[in-house]
Amino acid sequence: MTIWLHSEVGHNQDAKKEVKAFNSEDVFTTPKPERLLERILILATNPGDLVLDSFLGSGTTAAVAHKMGRRWIGIELGEHCHTHCIPRLRKVIDGEDPGGITKAVGWKGGGGFRYYRLGPSLIVKDEWGNPIINPEFNAAMLAEAMCKLEGFRYAPSEDIYWIHGKSTETDFIYVTTQFMSKQMLARLSDEVGSERSLLICCSAFRCDPSQFPNLTIKKIPKAVLQKCEWGHDDYSLEVKNLPAAPPTLEQEEPDDRPANSRRKSGKGKPRQASLFDMGGDQ
Ligand SMILES: C[S@@+](CC[C@H](N)C(=O)[O-])C[C@H]1O[C@@H](n2cnc3c(N)ncnc32)[C@H](O)[C@@H]1O
Repeated sequence: MTIWLHSEVGHNQDAKKEVKAFNSEDVFTTPKPERLLERILILATNPGDLVLDSFLGSGTTAAVAHKMGRRWIGIELGEHCHTHCIPRLRKVIDGEDPGGITKAVGWKGGGGFRYYRLGPSLIVKDEWGNPIINPEFNAAMLAEAMCKLEGFRYAPSEDIYWIHGKSTETDFIYVTTQFMSKQMLARLSDEVGSERSLLICCSAFRCDPSQFPNLTIKKIPKAVLQKCEWGHDDYSLEVKNLPAAPPTLEQEEPDDRPANSRRKSGKGKPRQASLFDMGGDQ
């Protein structure tokens, strides 16, 4: 069947009514009826699958995916993300959206979502075309971004200036735009001691890093450039290479080795909750 009748999948007037239930003052101009999205998701997905709508609009795709037990990612650059999508999805979760496919699928509410705002680019080019840290990033933003990229939980210490985050109880990260001299690194290495390890992300350093077995030293623009993809016209997502959910703490193997003999960058350790974690918050 290639003809989808409006008696089966709805039409734009249905969609306008569905959207009006969440925002009657500013009705989205091109909403789709929930039944249309339901038909598409029945054909193309299974429960638990991840549904991406990178042009979320009024949030119909996410609302329908949620009610149908699919996970979802919605991307929206317009202000209606706040005036339409978020209020709508909150009502879906709270079981306060009686419209659309709610009755047909027996939706009662539940689940959750995380909301992220895209920050400015961490790396920009200087007047000679060289990559530099974006001056819009203050020290805290930079530390938080580097924690995320390097797999550390952002947790700046009030007492110890070189602790900006941790990957385990003994593995830490220090982010600075300073040049690190050999003397500075020697002092840090002493303070870190043999039971702990520290990843230092700095703009430059001078020394042979192997003299400090408890330190790993990375240069920031280079470390960021290696972690991300840049300069493509096409950033197509390879669905088959989607990152797997990180292991839960219970699944982890105990690691009895001393801190400085473990992998120092925190790789392979429990990370910040990822977008693909099931536990949600609103
Ligand atoms: C026609 S609407 C999408 C309708 C929606 N997918 C649905 O099923 O009802 C297109 C949306 O894409 C958003 N948009 C356009 N360019 C975008 C971009 N580069 N990133 C994110 N959202 C974008 C617009 O603000 C608009 O809300």
